[in-house]
Amino acid sequence: MQPIIITLDGFSSCGKSTLARQLAAELNYVFIDSGAMYRAITLYFLRNHTNWNNQTEVVAALKEITLDFQYNSLTGNSDMFLNDENVEALIRDMLVSEHVSEVAAVKEVREFGVAQQQQMGVRKGIVMDGRDIGTTVFPQAELKIFVTADPAVRVERRFKELYAKNPNISIEEVKTNLEMRDYTDSNREFSPLRKATDAIELDNSLLTREEQLDIVLKWAREKMKQSN
Ligand code: DC
Repeated sequence: MQPIIITLDGFSSCGKSTLARQLAAELNYVFIDSGAMYRAITLYFLRNHTNWNNQTEVVAALKEITLDFQYNSLTGNSDMFLNDENVEALIRDMLVSEHVSEVAAVKEVREFGVAQQQQMGVRKGIVMDGRDIGTTVFPQAELKIFVTADPAVRVERRFKELYAKNPNISIEEVKTNLEMRDYTDSNREFSPLRKATDAIELDNSLLTREEQLDIVLKWAREKMKQSN
């Protein structure tokens, strides 16, 4: 069967990455968490005091950045590597979350990310999640899913995830960060978060992980049949 491209876009903390990872595993496809790439770039800028509002500094810094996903046999996931360093845990920090939307809105950063993501999809057989995957990265994708969830559900999910690592985190902090990122991601000039006109919407507020996986697997298998 010919492989297809599947995109999952949506607001922060809708569970896109979890769903995309499970879907890729079921189909034996490659899973790419595009947000991890913007997070790794943000980490690099923070560490190197790169002013992301200065185009010259951004262009010079991007030349020093190599991003790579490497399989982790302990977790079974692909970890994000920044210049050969495993930064998978570091990029999930609140400090990175606080700045990533601003960094991801910079034109040169977007061009850098999008070009690499498009390269990863040339052979298809890929599930990629993000904000602009169905609109800008792979407008020709065979299956586009736009994931949504009730904002209160999203805050609760994200809080639980972060609290497990840092019990000092407050629910208010998480809520403010999600609201800020949703606003910045949707209102930026270059490839803002939008539902592609041909995307199918999946509201997973009341769905378990198994239920949502069953739904998207059905959609994926239908599209795979139609594309062959
Ligand atoms: O999916 P995530 O929450 O890890 O993404 C982190 C940030 O990266 C998000 O706030 C917006 C940005 N992002 C983006 O601009 N485009 C993408 N394709 C993926 C993420």
